[in-house]
Amino acid sequence: MRTQVAIVGAGPAGLLLAHLLQRAGIEAVVVEIRSREYAEQRVRAGVLEQGTVDVLIENGVGARLKREGLVHHGVELRFAGRGHRIDLTELTGGRSITVYGQQEVVKDLVAARLAAGAPLYFEASDVRVAGFDTDRPRVTFRHEGREHALDCDFIAGCDGFRGTCRASIPAGSLAVHERAYPFAWLGILAAAAPSRDELAYANHERGFALFSMRSPEVTRLYLQVAPDESLDEWSDDRVWSELHTRFAGDDGWQPNEGAILERGITGMRSFVAEPMRHGRLFLAGDAAHIVPPTGAKGLNLAVADVRVLARALARWYAAGEEEGLAAYSATCLRRVWRAEHFSWWMTSMLHRAPGEDSFRRRLQLAQLEYVVTSRAAATSLAENYVGMPFGTP
Ligand code: FAD
Ligand code: PHB
Repeated sequence: MRTQVAIVGAGPAGLLLAHLLQRAGIEAVVVEIRSREYAEQRVRAGVLEQGTVDVLIENGVGARLKREGLVHHGVELRFAGRGHRIDLTELTGGRSITVYGQQEVVKDLVAARLAAGAPLYFEASDVRVAGFDTDRPRVTFRHEGREHALDCDFIAGCDGFRGTCRASIPAGSLAVHERAYPFAWLGILAAAAPSRDELAYANHERGFALFSMRSPEVTRLYLQVAPDESLDEWSDDRVWSELHTRFAGDDGWQPNEGAILERGITGMRSFVAEPMRHGRLFLAGDAAHIVPPTGAKGLNLAVADVRVLARALARWYAAGEEEGLAAYSATCLRRVWRAEHFSWWMTSMLHRAPGEDSFRRRLQLAQLEYVVTSRAAATSLAENYVGMPFGTP
């Protein structure tokens, strides 16, 4: 088999890259180890930056997003028993965010690819990448009992944090920058109408909590827990009682309760491997970088990366231009490091670290107080939250 770009991984990064390349007349084959059902059901991120929404709509995969996505103009910070609204739209000259589940983006992109009859292999195994130091890269894999070898011009490593692409780059060629956090998030989806229209991030003595949503019928909620926490220790009653405690405030607002449809625990990590290119292998999305979810940036960074990569590849194929590909890593890393800082900052401001002393606690509260009373500080949060405009030529 031969193609122009072999794409490893059918998460948001791989699927959107395939779609953008197809629109530019460039052939690609996508190889994914999981099943279609798994990829489409995996509950993850929910906040799309305006730039992410724009890319999906401009490229013809935003029809359902436009109908079902919930446009939000603000978020709330809750601490010391009070809620404070940050008006994202007013502070950023009209920008907003859209709440639309990552798995819905994945469903829309899979449907578009299959409707176009373009190659997408689910449930592949033994996926290996080779030859990317030469001009004859190759991806090999097994699918439905048959061995496949895919020769290509470029490999896009879109296979997430635990994928094979980054791991195939020779040790010593990548610089890794990393931070693990001493806490995790327990997330639930509840069959309950969201009891407010916007997200609420709460800093409480007992730890962080987040109120979000997926639709007018489904609420998404998160609680800070210990990194080694077991779900077995969290009965429904305990989850609701802890949520009510952490969201309590003088306005009496609380999330509505409902049947818990899904639950999971996610560890928190910051991670960047650079450069994001090795020869003819380009890393994109979680394969190259991870952020803790507090800034809602992971999915948006993946989309920004592949937007830059698709344009650079289009220029290479159309005019033999190398500049875009040569600049790929540096272009993406500007946005990545801004998001790394923002996600780390939001995480540090909102979570309780085990054993933290009163000094750190008072600094957190002072910072929160500053963000909700200073227009300059609120603007800084807002422009990062809706997404910085740089980095996408
Ligand atoms: P992924 O979505 O990870 O996609 C990579 C794909 O590659 C997967 O489908 C995987 O099965 C496939 N793959 C892996 N190895 C191979 C291989 N060897 N060969 C072929 N295919 C392979 N972000 C937020 O903003 N908010 C959240 O609440 C949030 N929650 C998260 C919860 C979890 C459990 C995780 C892991 C991430 C979460 N994120 C969240 C981050 C966000 O979901 C990611 O940033 C986003 O999925 C990145 O997209 P991606 O396409 O780069 O990677
Ligand atoms: C979500 O809705 O899943 C969500 C929202 C905001 C975040 C993280 C996750 O910061």
